[in-house]
Amino acid sequence: MKKILVAHDGSKPSEAALKKAFEIAERFGSSVTVISVVPDLYLTEIMETDRLRILDTLTEEAEKTMQKIKTKTVGSKPVKTIVVQGNPAEAILETAKKIKADLIVTGSHGRHGAEKFFLGSVSSKIVDHAECAVLIIK
Ligand SMILES: Nc1ncnc2c1ncn2[C@@H]1O[C@H](COP(=O)(O)OP(=O)(O)OP(=O)(O)O)[C@@H](O)[C@H]1O
Ligand SMILES: [Mg+2]
Repeated sequence: MKKILVAHDGSKPSEAALKKAFEIAERFGSSVTVISVVPDLYLTEIMETDRLRILDTLTEEAEKTMQKIKTKTVGSKPVKTIVVQGNPAEAILETAKKIKADLIVTGSHGRHGAEKFFLGSVSSKIVDHAECAVLIIK
């Protein structure tokens, strides 16, 4: 269990995922990378300038959260953070492959559906398509 990738969208379940990933990393001496994906916006009704402004705000918010997480260390290893724009599940899966993650940790739900019965669409897609182990935290 050398490399752990945590998917973080600022939601409570993703905070729980981060906490659990740190526990596992401490135990196994793994390194932790945390990724936050600023989702593509497909809003046909809004103007391009508004779309860019929303993206900017979301990117700033994600970067702020990642800055905070970056100050942490697990074992003696610094925590790495990544902010990218794109389709969340695809970007997470691609990054997992790229860094050769042994484990992806996500929350069961995200910012949209804490009350929903089924798994969120991002975590479902990751479970379906990941080439490594996946741990989903409630
Ligand atoms: N943009 C994102 N960047 C990084 N991780 C994410 C992102 N979106 C979701 N995740 C990860 O996936 C987990 C589940 O969130 P998901 O988006 O699947 O559920 P949801 O928001 O409740 O429902 P949905 O988005 O399908 O309406 C989150 O706790 C987080 O770990
Ligand atoms: Mg979501």
